[in-house]
Amino acid sequence: MIIARTLAEVRQAIQGKGAAGLVPTMGALHEGHISLISASAQECDFTSVTVFVNPTQFGDNSDFDLYPRTEAEDFEKAEKAGAQLVFAPSAAEMYSGTGVSVRAGSAANGLEGASRPGHFDGVVSIVAKLFTLFYPDRAYFGLKDLQQCAVIQQLIDEQLFPIELRLIETLREYSGLALSSRNERLSPTDKAQASKLYHEMMEAASAAAGGQPAGQALNRLNARLETAGFQVEYTAFVDPKTMATTETPHRLSRLAAAVQLGGVRLIDNVPVI
Ligand code: PAF
Repeated sequence: MIIARTLAEVRQAIQGKGAAGLVPTMGALHEGHISLISASAQECDFTSVTVFVNPTQFGDNSDFDLYPRTEAEDFEKAEKAGAQLVFAPSAAEMYSGTGVSVRAGSAANGLEGASRPGHFDGVVSIVAKLFTLFYPDRAYFGLKDLQQCAVIQQLIDEQLFPIELRLIETLREYSGLALSSRNERLSPTDKAQASKLYHEMMEAASAAAGGQPAGQALNRLNARLETAGFQVEYTAFVDPKTMATTETPHRLSRLAAAVQLGGVRLIDNVPVI
């Protein structure tokens, strides 16, 4: 597997490599990322993984500083999962400091966009650069970051990138907790507690699917989460393409939530079934 640190190394390495898959990550690879890399390795001739903790998508420096950095392990895992190239650049390699940036579209409004102002502008700025650098045929993202998926589809459509977005379902621990690099920051007690988020969300989603008014289902969900020790940032039924909230969820809607537990921010989303 090639390890590239510079744009020039990437350009040289990917020349003439056939159908190409790109898996953008911020490292700290877990089984969720591995499922994206494996899907790309199965579907594409050449899979590139990027490992870059992108400073422009963090509002808060302490969150950026706390983000786990496990480069050597990440490289090993990426290679095992079938990647042919890992790109792990410095911030200086990716940002020249001119301040030119890309702005996220309407799918960034509300929910994560409201809780983390500027976050999606940072995401699309780096993802647009990676798309331009790699020009992949397919790009792989995890559905756990539902709003990010919608924002990136809009980026692809609006900027005319000829890239197929492949969205891979969330992987969960046996307890139901969605895999996330942030889980490493949960204490063992909080980690056990965190799995309640998924189960409460599934119950609310199924109540709404069974005809309970959305507002009632959300009020009950919020109350149960607060009782279980979560601080609820938002819960909402959404259209996964536009990220508009809906009072009348149907089988294509998702229930999305963001909560805090023990100082760790967790997000998740589940289908309305
Ligand atoms: O989902 C992530 O890990 C990041 O937001 C991404 C897409 C790699 C951009 O930095």
